[in-house]
Amino acid sequence: MFCRHTLISLGILQLSSNWIAPALAQQTFFPSAVPLAVRTPTFNCWLDTRNETSPMETWPRFWNDQHILGWTGYIKVDGMTYHWLGQPIPGNGSIWLATAVTPTRTILTVQAGPMRLNVTFLSPIEPGDWARQSFPFSYVYLDGETTDGKPHSIQLYSDISGEWVTNDTGTGIQWSKSQTGNAVFHQVESTTPTSTFKDIAEDATVYYAISSAQPNLVSVVGTDRALRPAFTAAGAGLKLPPDSAVNVGTVSGSDGYPVLAHALNLGTTDTITTVAWAVGVVRDPILKFAGVPRRAYYFSQHGTVGDAIDAFMADFPAARERAIALDQKILQDAAAVSPEYADLVSLATRQAMAGMEITLSTLPDGSFNMSDVKAFMKDVGNSQRVNPTEAIYAALPASMYLDANITGALLEPLLEYQSSSSYGNSYAAPDLGTPFPSVPGNPDNNTVYGVENSGSMLILVLAHAKSSGDGSLIGKYYDLLKQWGDYLTSNALIPGQQNPADARDTGLAQNHGNITNLALKGLIAIQAMAEISQIMGQTADAQKYQTSAKTRMESWVHLTSASGQLHWTYGDSTFGLMYNFLADKLLKLNVVPASIYTAESTTLSNNPAQQDFGIALSSDNSLNTRSDWTLFSAAAATDKQTRDLLISGVHKYASSNLTSGTFPTLYNV
Ligand SMILES: *[C@@H]1O[C@H](CO)[C@@H](O)[C@H](O)[C@H]1NC(C)=O
Ligand SMILES: *[C@@H]1O[C@H](CO)[C@@H](O)[C@H](O)[C@H]1NC(C)=O
Ligand SMILES: *[C@@H]1O[C@H](CO)[C@@H](O)[C@H](O)[C@H]1NC(C)=O
Ligand SMILES: *[C@@H]1O[C@H](CO)[C@@H](O)[C@H](O)[C@H]1NC(C)=O
Ligand SMILES: *[C@@H]1O[C@H](CO)[C@@H](O)[C@H](O)[C@H]1NC(C)=O
Ligand SMILES: *[C@@H]1O[C@H](CO)[C@@H](O)[C@H](O)[C@H]1NC(C)=O
Ligand SMILES: *[C@@H]1O[C@H](CO)[C@@H](O)[C@H](O)[C@H]1NC(C)=O
Ligand SMILES: *[C@@H]1O[C@H](CO)[C@@H](O)[C@H](O)[C@H]1NC(C)=O
Ligand SMILES: *[C@@H]1O[C@H](CO)[C@@H](O)[C@H](O)[C@H]1NC(C)=O
Repeated sequence: MFCRHTLISLGILQLSSNWIAPALAQQTFFPSAVPLAVRTPTFNCWLDTRNETSPMETWPRFWNDQHILGWTGYIKVDGMTYHWLGQPIPGNGSIWLATAVTPTRTILTVQAGPMRLNVTFLSPIEPGDWARQSFPFSYVYLDGETTDGKPHSIQLYSDISGEWVTNDTGTGIQWSKSQTGNAVFHQVESTTPTSTFKDIAEDATVYYAISSAQPNLVSVVGTDRALRPAFTAAGAGLKLPPDSAVNVGTVSGSDGYPVLAHALNLGTTDTITTVAWAVGVVRDPILKFAGVPRRAYYFSQHGTVGDAIDAFMADFPAARERAIALDQKILQDAAAVSPEYADLVSLATRQAMAGMEITLSTLPDGSFNMSDVKAFMKDVGNSQRVNPTEAIYAALPASMYLDANITGALLEPLLEYQSSSSYGNSYAAPDLGTPFPSVPGNPDNNTVYGVENSGSMLILVLAHAKSSGDGSLIGKYYDLLKQWGDYLTSNALIPGQQNPADARDTGLAQNHGNITNLALKGLIAIQAMAEISQIMGQTADAQKYQTSAKTRMESWVHLTSASGQLHWTYGDSTFGLMYNFLADKLLKLNVVPASIYTAESTTLSNNPAQQDFGIALSSDNSLNTRSDWTLFSAAAATDKQTRDLLISGVHKYASSNLTSGTFPTLYNV
């Protein structure tokens, strides 16, 4: 049971005369947008929280900020209605008081007349549980208490629109309603689904669910123009028109937007105890790889989405406990670095986990091959590249901390493709091609990113094996890995005109050749290859790569450092963030001499390129930086002062609510 109805007793009335309104924690972190429901590349809903915009008068939007996702929340208190989500008509906004962000939750504290509400958006992160992690649903739940000490008549309402299933308001949609043991849910989908899309999925079914164990629950579909005024009409109680007689329409039609609503009457009470809804964006199959359709992992445990929704609603109290426990663990670990770091981790963890889909292949009889788990990442926000090598590398610290096996599931399709006859290059590929969700593979023989991608792949393969204890990828793909080790032996020290992957971003184009940080990645990767050979018991190979890494590192130290400073490119006075040092630390390789780490700290703490929002990635392009690589540099820094300086620049950007947008990787310093 979710709601508690409080009896009015004399005791409570007496208590109310001494009522003290609950204190509000001081908010210190102000992102431009906060995550509401962020689980996959296509289920990525945010709320604009820029300065001088009220979050209570704003529609939730897709991450790209170009598309409204209709999602409304109302509370009626003694006949007066306030909204706690969206910008619906009619209604008066509740008063926004504060926003708190944790790794799994965004909590808006608002005042709705005499009721103070915590509106909590919970996007579960389920380390090690791939059925739960792959289930693309999020909860929103309300808790509330009276601030005048008196009980009130309370009704709640929430709806979603067809804007969730298409970017175009003219698209035809159809909807239906179902009931299971634990849940009532609506679903809506396009009548012309297509897997060709850029950002918003055009082939998804969107679900809106609530626990069926609610007294006085009404679940109906109607137009926004019919349902919302009916709910908000003056007078206490819950009066909604009957369910729509039709089940097809367009996202926006002549009568308004069809919306799918669940409303309930709590009666007279002074508290609202956790009323939860769940929203989900389901694509099935997720994609085809090597001609085989792949479905989300959770289907191996639930025959239908309805079964999975039923379990998700029944699991809510436990899911919330797991989320709070995970938040506490992550925040305790992050706060041991600094409070600013804890803020960044709170904002970014969901984004990292939502970049990927965990899938299983299907067998001809429709069953699943449980030994064929593959994960697919979309380069959200930058391109539609599938499994971009450098993005898996950027996510490595999060994966190693949360669920080391995820890195293996992301690497598997890259390794399988590159050992097939479709791929003929002696160096690693940047990705599996574009655009998501098609996975064409990328046979491109342009050598410009050869060192970058071969380096990332060897580092990732070893990091996965060491952190998960699973050596199967190394066993299966040893010959392919050796080929990349040999490529790096020939090319890493003098990369010439080769580039890091960042140069794909126009904001980070590089003018100089022989980029030291790129060479560094290659050399660390050669040492990683030595360890990979050691794991395989190939002692001669291990010796060869070890010697190759050691001699080249000696040359690198000579080429990059002059007067105790490190340079971004050989033989000149450029500077930049040597973020690949972190790979040496994560893998505990110690291939980089201690004196070099000291030189990097000196270089950074005297950096003339320190701007308002941090340090430019390099003096080759001094306007922009990357938040991920800045934090890699911070994590590798040997002294706290340098570490905190780097974290601070990114934090300042992440907490500046003056320009719109979600927390970015690339930004102007
Ligand atoms: C934006 O940030 C400022 C502090 O810089 C803060 O006072 C304000 O409340 C923030 N606005 C929102 C909507 O979070
Ligand atoms: C946010 O808006 C308030 C109210 O107008 C203003 O006083 C404050 O300076 C703004 N904050 C920032 C960071 O611009
Ligand atoms: C909004 O507030 C105004 C002014 O208090 C009130 O007249 C109106 O009824 C409210 N609207 C709703 C839907 O409660
Ligand atoms: C809302 O959240 C705050 C901060 O965690 C807490 O102190 C308060 O008790 C919560 N209110 C309710 C009604 O749960
Ligand atoms: C989605 O719709 C918005 C608003 O109409 C438009 O600006 C944007 O280009 C569209 N995106 C795609 C991928 O069609
Ligand atoms: C299941 O997947 C594994 C790993 O990809 C593969 O070796 C095996 O042949 C597959 N089984 C079937 C029946 O296709
Ligand atoms: C990772 O995968 C391996 C091999 O399947 C398994 O033995 C191990 O328990 C998994 N580790 C975690 C943390 O799930
Ligand atoms: C790269 O591929 C193209 C097209 O397949 C081919 O014409 C070209 O010779 C290849 N270049 C190299 C350096 O292998
Ligand atoms: C890279 O360094 C090597 C060795 O110092 C030099 O011969 C080559 O010209 C450099 N290439 C570029 C593009 O700077």
